[in-house]
Amino acid sequence: MTGLGDVDSSVPNVARMYDYYLGGYHNFAVDREAAEKILAIFPDTPAAARTNRRFLQRAVRHLAQAGVRQFLDIGTGLPTQGNVHEMTDGKVVYVDNDPVAVAQARSLVDGLDRVSVACADLRDPEALLADPHVAEHLDFTEPVAVLMVSILHFVPDEAHPGDLIARLRDATAPGSHLVVSHLTLDGVPAAPAAAGQQVYRQSSAPLAPRTKAAIAALFDGYELLEPGLVWLGDWRPDDGDEQVSHGYGGVGVLRGR
Ligand SMILES: C[S@@+](CC[C@H](N)C(=O)[O-])C[C@H]1O[C@@H](n2cnc3c(N)ncnc32)[C@H](O)[C@@H]1O
Repeated sequence: MTGLGDVDSSVPNVARMYDYYLGGYHNFAVDREAAEKILAIFPDTPAAARTNRRFLQRAVRHLAQAGVRQFLDIGTGLPTQGNVHEMTDGKVVYVDNDPVAVAQARSLVDGLDRVSVACADLRDPEALLADPHVAEHLDFTEPVAVLMVSILHFVPDEAHPGDLIARLRDATAPGSHLVVSHLTLDGVPAAPAAAGQQVYRQSSAPLAPRTKAAIAALFDGYELLEPGLVWLGDWRPDDGDEQVSHGYGGVGVLRGR
């Protein structure tokens, strides 16, 4: 178990900055100050965060309708509505390495047997897979949708994100999926790009934005579903969805090996 005694409220935390962009209340002054610096550089960040949430929801809805019954959502964050377990009646495991996000997820799903919450770190996939909240809740002989939505840009190249994804891929059965949304600075002028990265350098998780080609490479071993890797707002949008995208998104399927 992780207690809120582990919370460091002196350093801006990326989960709580994201919560602030989405209009939430699970953030401290230090998070709001850092988030406001980002808003001064990129004022459309709240719209981009909402677009990211809608991508997640459309992807999960699509997979649920296609018959996927198990979801491993790594980097769950703090959102209070439109969460994965509300898009499916299948099994869901929420995973985050932030104790506030874990506590929030546990309070949201209290009493729901089909949902489990693990405090684990994507950078240690062995421990993540062995965590009882994961290992005892999901059946890895059946397809699992692994969600890495707006988390991989907090994993630097030195942590080898491709290897981490491959470890999880190799633990899942054919018919499993990988859902990724990922921040890019493609097309962003150098000065605001550097200023934004400087803000996150002082946070709990510095940014590792990637190019479209680098993000596509993370789907190694998966076959991308239509429309491929696209701006988040362009992935099977519903009428009325916002179109402010700060990243790319895609859904891959693991074919038989
Ligand atoms: C921007 S939020 C995304 C929340 C949600 N997936 C969404 O897209 O709406 C990123 C989340 O990833 C979590 N995170 C960052 N690095 C992580 C890591 N190495 N392992 C587990 N969680 C991590 C943060 O704590 C935060 O809750």
